Amino acid sequence: EESKKVVLQEDASLPKATKSKLGNLTPLRSQRVRVSGWVHRLRDQKGIIFVVLRDGTGYLQCVLSGTAQTYEALTLTLESSLELVGTLQPVPEGKTAPGGHELVVDYWRVLGAAPGAEDAFSSRLNEKSDPSILADLRHLVLRGETASAILKLRAALLSSFRGSLVSHDLLEVTPPCLVQTQVEGGATLFTLDYYGQPAFLTQSSQLYLETCLPSLGDVFCVQESFRAENSHTRRHLSEYTHLEAELAFITFEDLMNHIESIICETIGRLLQDPSSAALIKQLNPNFQTPSRPFLRLSYVDAIKWLNEHGIQHEAEDAEGNVIKDEHGNPKMVDHAVGDDIAEAAERRMTDILGTPVFLYGFPAVLKAFYMKKMPKKEGAPDDNHVFTESCDLLMPGVGEIVGGSMRIADMEELLAAYKREGIDASPYYWFTDQRKYGTCEHGGYGLGVERFLAWLANRYTVRECSLYPRWPGRATP
Ligand code: 4AD
Repeated sequence: EESKKVVLQEDASLPKATKSKLGNLTPLRSQRVRVSGWVHRLRDQKGIIFVVLRDGTGYLQCVLSGTAQTYEALTLTLESSLELVGTLQPVPEGKTAPGGHELVVDYWRVLGAAPGAEDAFSSRLNEKSDPSILADLRHLVLRGETASAILKLRAALLSSFRGSLVSHDLLEVTPPCLVQTQVEGGATLFTLDYYGQPAFLTQSSQLYLETCLPSLGDVFCVQESFRAENSHTRRHLSEYTHLEAELAFITFEDLMNHIESIICETIGRLLQDPSSAALIKQLNPNFQTPSRPFLRLSYVDAIKWLNEHGIQHEAEDAEGNVIKDEHGNPKMVDHAVGDDIAEAAERRMTDILGTPVFLYGFPAVLKAFYMKKMPKKEGAPDDNHVFTESCDLLMPGVGEIVGGSMRIADMEELLAAYKREGIDASPYYWFTDQRKYGTCEHGGYGLGVERFLAWLANRYTVRECSLYPRWPGRATP
């Protein structure tokens, strides 16, 4: 034992080692290389110690035998950080290892030893850890193979989206997060004190994107949006990454075609890239590219469809309270035109349909103030329902991933819309000015990146698709 405590020295007579990330090793086969990373897995097999090293770009099996098998090797712990030098060899016939090669180590050292025993990584975090522990230890969960694969796919997804949007002549801009106007209704605003003035965290960058059209042409942004929604569902976050785009001189039909193209081209780009295709295969082995064109269902037809399929919703009284029957169960009723299609009904519908579906033409009363009204069909009954040129894209397993619409182009109509919604028009002067100085027909959409990723990677909840997810009560780590 004493002899093993001798500190290992790097042998200067050996060929110079090339420093490399684990993801770039293949061209360095049979050469001497220097790598650094964390102990991802560890096993001792017939006296030879196998370390699977991880550095974020890949994994590498490192073999500690002979002089490399020091006392430190025998007490090595998971998640310690190491530097290792050795010869990169193809794995022996019949054996497998990440990348098809392994490092036969001649020199190594511990950079930061991780604790063992009750403070060991695997004692703090394992398959049996309950969800609140996992949330507190998100920084450690990220070291796992699944969590890191999701985040790598997320990065590839964002870059594919950017590629598709730029190829459609949209320019990326960066709107502010600190704002003084609402977009999607006062109920979900996070308010804050801004040098003594009221301000909000943005719910959507849409209004700012609209102002860019006359100077920059069609634009998009990838920006955090904030929603103070007290929703503990698997698809709501308090902060989420919002991919939004705005296009000028288009029709409602153009808008839906554009959304469909961007989504399909983005998926195409991901599948063409071998490393993102491998991540999709790892996370969602049964993934299939949706076929085009996407199903389009008007809101009115969706209401009919729900009733034909016996999908009901909870009855509410005039104050919005759920009506209960004599057993205390909520009273269920059919959908009627004018009703909101709630999350549960929407989810059941997409799961039965099993394909992406555009729901379009929602009643104005259910939607935001800025939405353009649908032209009334000639001879249609005057039944009080005003519909909008709005669409939601629903995906199986997740539900709504995109919300979009054409916008009111006429200034008088916009001023009337503020009034109807009880919105003070003065802070919106810059938004109104778009209609004053050369208005145009335009529209756009917002896509929830975590929801899209949950669909793509077949995750149970959007919480797995955010680096550090925020939901009611959770802003740590
Ligand atoms: O439908 P929403 O509220 O639309 C807007 O904000 C528009 N102003 C966007 C635009 O036209 N530029 O939100 C758009 C999308 C939703 O379809 C959903 O994917 C996502 O944003 N989203 C959320 N994702 C996670 N957690 C939440 N709380 C979300 N709220 C909306």
